[in-house]
Amino acid sequence: MALLSVLTPVLAVVLCLVIGFMLVKSRETETASTASREKSTAASKTDYRPWVDQDLQDDTETREREGEDADWVDHNEEEDLPHVPYSPPRYPEETMLERSKDLYNLLNQRRSVRFISPEPVPREVIDNVIRTAGTAPSGAHTEPWTFVVVSDPETKHQIRQIVEEEEEVNYRQRMGDKWVNDLARLRTNWIKEYLDVAPYLVLIFKQTYGMLPNGKKKTHYYNEISVSISCGILLAALQNVGLVTVTSTPLNCGPQLRLLLKRPANEKLLMLLPVGYPASDATVPDLKRKPLEEIIVHI
Ligand SMILES: Cc1cc2nc3c(=O)[nH]c(=O)nc-3n(C[C@H](O)[C@H](O)[C@H](O)COP(=O)(O)O)c2cc1C
Repeated sequence: MALLSVLTPVLAVVLCLVIGFMLVKSRETETASTASREKSTAASKTDYRPWVDQDLQDDTETREREGEDADWVDHNEEEDLPHVPYSPPRYPEETMLERSKDLYNLLNQRRSVRFISPEPVPREVIDNVIRTAGTAPSGAHTEPWTFVVVSDPETKHQIRQIVEEEEEVNYRQRMGDKWVNDLARLRTNWIKEYLDVAPYLVLIFKQTYGMLPNGKKKTHYYNEISVSISCGILLAALQNVGLVTVTSTPLNCGPQLRLLLKRPANEKLLMLLPVGYPASDATVPDLKRKPLEEIIVHI
């Protein structure tokens, strides 16, 4: 009994210490989880990048969908491919140097031009430019591109209406101050007169998968990278013939434009290029390009 009465205050102290420790711990955990919740909300706000997340998603993952394997072609079903000799021209070093400078000088003059002349452009030139774009490499030679060339004034106007409607929402609501400020420097906004004026609108679709005559689907590996390379070649080809364009990626317009142009569901809009001669009073922002030392690393 005496021992118990001596131990009681000790036990009470120990009990208080344990309860106190548990309280402190639980508060620490709560603070940590609130902080992490706040951090993740902030991160998801800053990570919200609709120009990456919405329009430009690559649908290669559709290949992985469960239960759809029977719809897809097995690569073994494709025929064997003969190989042929290849010997492109080889130039003396001096000529190489000259050609490398010439092409650089030509492409260094390329600018995104937002003021395009309505003057007609020969259709055959456009066909050749697109033929050139079609020489791009592509994942497993799937050539996952469709170039829709629009010259019909009514369709161009419908495209303009779709793009301007979405762009206005992008500028006013979706994109945030940073994006709007970055674009203000370039004096670009949601009014896209060039969509009516340019003699051609070229809408480039990436085919997220292919459709074979037997109805099976074919994987289009790296379709977005392949089509983007093709677009780069297209820009160079336009520059080569003295035509101008402005690279545009109309956000959230893809599905509407795809339906308007009656493209199938496996095609997603990647880029819209108005094409023509520059307007006689065209201006461009006085941008400077990074010097070689800033973009090259020799190892
Ligand atoms: C992927 C991509 C998307 C672009 N989207 C737009 C656009 O929606 N509207 C626009 O006016 N310019 C757009 N541009 C053009 C850029 O603003 C332009 O390339 C950049 O300011 C550099 O100018 P330069 O093309 O004259 O060298 C885009 C360019 C790229 C590569």
